[in-house]
Amino acid sequence: MKKGKILITGSNGLLGQAIVSIFTRESDFDLVLSSVEEKSNISLNYNYVQLDITAKDKVKKAVAEIAPDIIINCAAYTDVDGCETERVLSWKLNVDAVKHLIIAARPNNAKLVHFSTDYIFDGKNGPYDELATPNPISFYGRSKLAAENAVISSGIRFAVIRTMVLFGIGSKVKTNFATWLINKLSAGERINIVDDQIGNSTIVDDLAYGALKLIEAEKEGIYNIAGRDIESRLDFTYKLCDIFGYKKDLIKIIKTKDLNQPAPRPLNSGLITLKVQSELGFEPMGTVEALQLLKYQLGY
Ligand SMILES: NC(=O)c1ccc[n+]([C@@H]2O[C@H](COP(=O)([O-])OP(=O)(O)OC[C@H]3O[C@@H](n4cnc5c(N)ncnc54)[C@H](OP(=O)(O)O)[C@@H]3O)[C@@H](O)[C@H]2O)c1
Repeated sequence: MKKGKILITGSNGLLGQAIVSIFTRESDFDLVLSSVEEKSNISLNYNYVQLDITAKDKVKKAVAEIAPDIIINCAAYTDVDGCETERVLSWKLNVDAVKHLIIAARPNNAKLVHFSTDYIFDGKNGPYDELATPNPISFYGRSKLAAENAVISSGIRFAVIRTMVLFGIGSKVKTNFATWLINKLSAGERINIVDDQIGNSTIVDDLAYGALKLIEAEKEGIYNIAGRDIESRLDFTYKLCDIFGYKKDLIKIIKTKDLNQPAPRPLNSGLITLKVQSELGFEPMGTVEALQLLKYQLGY
């Protein structure tokens, strides 16, 4: 017998695809996939519905019809620099749409599992546990914090999972830090890497697995799920060079301020994962293990 029905929003994205893959392999939930595009990016024969979560009435109708026990929201406006200029658009998706999911979940008594980020912090004194005080320094961070607050104060059953620096592979997904490094370094191109952004990079498969454990244990509240190693972007890149066999002399070390990015980044960040480790016995992967998995997935 199936354990229950899960509606996944944003199932075409990097995390959405990993959730579909891990939940299919490791659990017995009945999955309904949805994203803004007409078709699913995943070729297998899943139940897929097109759903733009910024359309309030459509969300209400779809949730009422599908009647999920759990909604996992993987949709978001994730272009951090784009959020600075596309403020209205990004707020619509990162905040208003989350409120639509809350409103739709309430009469159906569905639980909402929502993903957030270390960008809700200022990066002055990381790593952060679940009780640390947020102070976002970018519009993306402000929008993600507003969404968290909407979920937390909604009165519905919820889990907010904070994560950071996602990497992995998927069909037609945007480039992430690890795949960008692989594209550049495998072509022998020189790259500029910052040594002053500290945090834990997270392979999506591990995040999806942690989310599954959290759901199976029926946990509610805020949980950090991120990779085990808290390190600089530079140290992550060196590890990737070691595992994939790329030359480290292609790397030029720079500072974040040299990038002149529109959105400020939290520098001394990182997420402490002791809560999931102690409550679920979930041990996140370290960087080396995660990169070895990525190498295997890429067929290297
Ligand atoms: N990526 C990271 O490093 C990172 C770090 C910390 C936290 N997170 C959080 O993790 C979650 C998943 O991120 P991700 O990297 O998997 O994002 P992603 O790859 O950008 O996936 C988001 C998906 O949502 C879809 N989408 C866009 N607008 C939509 C709408 N109106 N209705 C329904 N779906 C829509 C996107 O489609 P299009 O591609 O066509 O727009 C995309 O397929 C987000 O909550 C994000 O804030 C990510």
